[in-house]
Amino acid sequence: MLRIINVVGARPNFMKIAPVTEEMRRRPARIESLLVHTGQHYDESMSDSFFEDLQIPRPDLNLEIGSGSHPEQTARIMIAFERVLLNHPADWVVVVGDVNSTLAATIVAAKMNVRIAHVEAGLRSRDRTMPEEINRVVTDSLADLLLTPSRDAGENLVREGVTGEKIKFVGNVMIDTLFRNMDRAKDSRILDSLKLEPRRFCAMTLHRPSNVDDKETLSGILDALEIIAEHLPIVFPVHPRTRDRLVHFGLDERVRRQASIVLTEPLGYLDFLRLYSNSRLVLTDSGGIQEETTVLGIPCLTLRENTERPITITEGTNQLVGNNPVSITRAALAVLEQDSRPARIPELWDGHAAVRIVDAIEEASPG
Ligand code: UD1
Repeated sequence: MLRIINVVGARPNFMKIAPVTEEMRRRPARIESLLVHTGQHYDESMSDSFFEDLQIPRPDLNLEIGSGSHPEQTARIMIAFERVLLNHPADWVVVVGDVNSTLAATIVAAKMNVRIAHVEAGLRSRDRTMPEEINRVVTDSLADLLLTPSRDAGENLVREGVTGEKIKFVGNVMIDTLFRNMDRAKDSRILDSLKLEPRRFCAMTLHRPSNVDDKETLSGILDALEIIAEHLPIVFPVHPRTRDRLVHFGLDERVRRQASIVLTEPLGYLDFLRLYSNSRLVLTDSGGIQEETTVLGIPCLTLRENTERPITITEGTNQLVGNNPVSITRAALAVLEQDSRPARIPELWDGHAAVRIVDAIEEASPG
């Protein structure tokens, strides 16, 4: 019997772990799994609503770590997660993505000689000012099994000296969740409640420190939104970090005055899927949304200078536009004037990544 501890902490982790835990539960004779939530995200809209929408069983343990500076948050998770591993001896710790919880659980498991499987390994933005890039590099250097979503990710790992047998190309597990929930999302009433017509609005998300923590940058992005919103309304679910920065910089009144920029609370998975899948254009700085829009063929402008997901540009609908208001506006208006460009669905983004992930973990287990 393999004892596996699956770890999640923040919003983008939940959609990655959902199909993995479900697949593990289909193998009760061979796998006993526990789900640990670090509590990095704790608001109902950032955490609980995802467990409900994605039908993930309640976590077996919630470490209730909460917010803090990166070192502080990481350290608190490490201390609490050591206790988890002492109380629940495990053969594997499975971590997903690139948040602080991913890094913290990985370091603890490595120090306690527990094998680590990293889902979404090998992605690189090559931008070390991004906290997630540090998390990815450290996690991958310690993990025993590197489960990659795309071939470029495997190439990055080989270039860094990782030996081939540790790397398994399994595809993109977020897309398992996307495919499983497309029908269920049709029940969402979000378009009616915001009085939106399909393809007659843009959807926006913004939360990266590089976009929201500097007043001038954030204000420049709002300049661009105001111009785009003259053409099509923009629906903007506001992340808690962004809400806090808008208030702190005194910019919140300015956005609220614009009738065609519709601010909402962060949305649950199904409402947000219903929203962006019916939008004409997505503007975002999220990682996962670049992938989801690629699969659904929705044009996506990413407000960053780089991406760890280049396949969404080479094969998908994504374009990098940075955070300069002129380039954001120019690219958005160009998209609104054209028909969308056809996209290809990347290899193994097929809805079956979780089966390959759990198979790979079983195959890499001795005996
Ligand atoms: C984290 C991840 C980021 C991911 C994002 C998605 C890291 C380094 N960053 O960034 O990769 O894209 O989640 O949301 O792990 N807050 C709340 N309620 C919550 C959680 C946070 O109000 O439930 C507020 C707190 O003021 C907190 C701030 O948001 O200080 C930032 O939260 P944190 O978890 O530190 O980072 P995110 O910006 O959410």
